[in-house]
Amino acid sequence: MKIAFIGYGQVGAPLADHLQRLGHSVTLAANDPTSESLKKALAKNANLKVAAPKVAVSDSEVVFLATPFQANEAALKAVADEIRGKVLVDCTNPVGANLSHGLNSVQSGSEMVQALVPETKVVKAFTIYGFENFENCSYPGYNVKPVMMYCGNDSGAKKIVGELIAQLGWEPLDVGGLEQALHLEHMTLLWVRMVRVNKHSPNMVWAMLTR
Ligand SMILES: NC(=O)c1ccc[n+]([C@@H]2O[C@H](COP(=O)([O-])OP(=O)(O)OC[C@H]3O[C@@H](n4cnc5c(N)ncnc54)[C@H](OP(=O)(O)O)[C@@H]3O)[C@@H](O)[C@H]2O)c1
Repeated sequence: MKIAFIGYGQVGAPLADHLQRLGHSVTLAANDPTSESLKKALAKNANLKVAAPKVAVSDSEVVFLATPFQANEAALKAVADEIRGKVLVDCTNPVGANLSHGLNSVQSGSEMVQALVPETKVVKAFTIYGFENFENCSYPGYNVKPVMMYCGNDSGAKKIVGELIAQLGWEPLDVGGLEQALHLEHMTLLWVRMVRVNKHSPNMVWAMLTR
């Protein structure tokens, strides 16, 4: 599958790396060829391609958005025409002061992203844990896989993203439409407060058990 990454820092770079190693054609959408995050991502995996954002996005089937939340609008406006009709994996979270919800829980960040690119199929995924779990998503010794919850309004887009999640080693769990994004964003804040403030292990993930 042809995949573009807008943002390749702590979250984007490991996901881009793993997806390329799984055999996908992965292109980093580069604004700035001197960017430190670009250099680091390429130092880890020289098989990642690099192209200007418009080219990277128009040549891709799936686009990952892994930018600081405040940069989303500028990043998406720069590829507004090219991203129309594509699957957009929103990895971003709005985080406010004192680890509160950055949009005061009035609207989710992903619904805001969807409003910026209304003709794009937004799926929120890869947001409920810290980057440590994207660098290494294997949990040997357990007979269940860590769960990766995702949501979105387009079932075809969610099928694609669910398959990518499974390839990366997670148990994909479709939690519903994009209206669920707000609840995933609160799960993120729960994880962040537990780990970054209360010092639980950053390798802590959730699992799904049913009967
Ligand atoms: N860190 C985590 O553990 C974690 C976990 C889950 C989700 N998230 C969410 O994932 C997103 C990214 O977090 P991160 O920790 O990966 O951030 P990061 O390490 O700071 O990386 C941000 C990336 O976005 C790029 N960028 C910044 N402004 C841009 C713009 N206007 N247009 C295009 N690209 C731009 C940066 O490029 P330059 O280096 O060239 O500036 C960099 O590649 C955030 O929304 C965060 O809330 C983070």
